[in-house]
Amino acid sequence: MQFEVFSLLPEAFTSYIEASILKRAQERGLIKINIHNIRDYTYDKHHVTDDTPYGGGGGMVMKPEPVFEAIEKVLGFKHQVEVNDEAISHPTKPTVDSSIPIILLTPQGRVFNQSIAKELSQHPRLALICGRYEGIDERIRQHLVTDEISIGDYVLTGGEIPALVLIDAISRLLPNVLGDPTGAEDDSHAMGLLEYPHYTRPPEFRGSKVPDVLLSGDHAKIDKWRHEQALERTFRKRPDMLETANLSAEDKKFLEKLKEKNNS
Ligand code: ADE
Repeated sequence: MQFEVFSLLPEAFTSYIEASILKRAQERGLIKINIHNIRDYTYDKHHVTDDTPYGGGGGMVMKPEPVFEAIEKVLGFKHQVEVNDEAISHPTKPTVDSSIPIILLTPQGRVFNQSIAKELSQHPRLALICGRYEGIDERIRQHLVTDEISIGDYVLTGGEIPALVLIDAISRLLPNVLGDPTGAEDDSHAMGLLEYPHYTRPPEFRGSKVPDVLLSGDHAKIDKWRHEQALERTFRKRPDMLETANLSAEDKKFLEKLKEKNNS
């Protein structure tokens, strides 16, 4: 998987990538994260990337030219040759390889979740545009971007942290990125349920004991206990998830009993 990240704050990415599992994933050739500074695609003396909004109002708006230029240079003018020069002068025609998702990180996008992470992990290459300032020129959204993603209903100062969130969530789903080959399978959200509780040594800590079943060595019993814990946690913390989870008849019975217990 190759990530092409477009940002006005490229230094925001280095420390997290260097400190995390993403570094090893890059060294092992499992992912490649290319950070492109949008400012490098300006040609005026002061390398201006923003301007005041038409119609007035506060704040600055990201200019379209450097963002188009950066994306087109990095992703390639695939259709320029095929469609002819119109592709460059007429921005409604795709000017880049349209098979690569070009994702704008914005609070206006679809809200990111595990299933979107899985969907995006199927692509060999993704372009991520990080917005800054108060907004971006609408023509970037209209004529360049193919998808808009938000990481939640709150507003950050830019798309850099959201881009890192996507890169992290997607990368750990790719083969061999996690040390444990089953690492991502039991995750919270992976099966539509929250994850069961984990324990490690010591067996008793400040009077609090590890549940006996986990020390029993009976793996069928342990699996059943973990699954029921996942169901119960989801029921208590995120009941909304149960509406879309893939539940067996036995799961439904277990949840009915929990509901009865809860109401009595
Ligand atoms: N940029 C600013 N806030 C954001 C959010 N919540 N998600 C994605 N990009 C953003």
